[in-house]
Amino acid sequence: MERNVERMLKRVAVVFISIGTAIMVIMILQTPKTCIPPEAPSKPHTHFPRSTCDSSPRQHLPLQKKNARIWSSSAWKSRLTSFSTYFLRFRDLGFLNNHTKALCLSAGAGHAPMALSQIGLADVTAVELVDSIPLVKRADPHNLPFFDGVFDFAFTAHLAEALFPWRFVEEMERMVRRGGFCVVAVDECGGDDVRDIARLFLNSKLVDVANVTLEGSKRTSIIFKVQDSQP
Ligand SMILES: *[C@@H]1O[C@H](CO)[C@@H](O)[C@H](O)[C@H]1NC(C)=O
Ligand SMILES: *[C@@H]1O[C@H](CO)[C@@H](O)[C@H](O)[C@H]1NC(C)=O
Repeated sequence: MERNVERMLKRVAVVFISIGTAIMVIMILQTPKTCIPPEAPSKPHTHFPRSTCDSSPRQHLPLQKKNARIWSSSAWKSRLTSFSTYFLRFRDLGFLNNHTKALCLSAGAGHAPMALSQIGLADVTAVELVDSIPLVKRADPHNLPFFDGVFDFAFTAHLAEALFPWRFVEEMERMVRRGGFCVVAVDECGGDDVRDIARLFLNSKLVDVANVTLEGSKRTSIIFKVQDSQP
């Protein structure tokens, strides 16, 4: 009886030793995948580092391919849809049409200008401190490189982040012709906050305030009609 148990244990041990040896042999024979020297990729733009050992320098992605990749992401698409829905309301209210010359300030990566183009506007300009070609040009919103009154509609969702809000607004109003519209989307607010923002717009009249959802957060959208060009 005891000898049977002993024999069985020995067999089990032999089996485990065999498995262990086999695994060790496989590990020795195999070149670790993590440290294969990088070969020149046949298609540079499809080559990505596969591991930390892959030290070949990242290939410069052609702009068109880079944009195509960004614009096809679901994050981009959902923000774009959000802006389109938001701007369609202005079209329904009569503040926008296909011939409106629009300007987006602090336009980030360009969701807003793309949305405006998508709903049919043929002439959309967007600026930001960092450019995102072809959607967004580089310009300081406090000091815009455009003549007075060349736009019908100016929009920003980033007034709150402006270094000098009064200067930002002054430039925004300067860009828009008399009778045109300045639109700001700010974090949801009411009463006094809206009045404080309205006070920045020296040459415009408040025409509409609405609470909206933009890019997944609650914002208050304020529309001003420009009364007079700057002296
Ligand atoms: C505006 O432009 C879009 C796309 O270019 C077009 O489908 C639409 O019919 C135009 N709307 C008007 C009122 O012209
Ligand atoms: C927007 O929401 C704020 C509360 O967050 C409220 O005080 C304000 O009256 C609302 N504005 C409009 C136009 O509904």
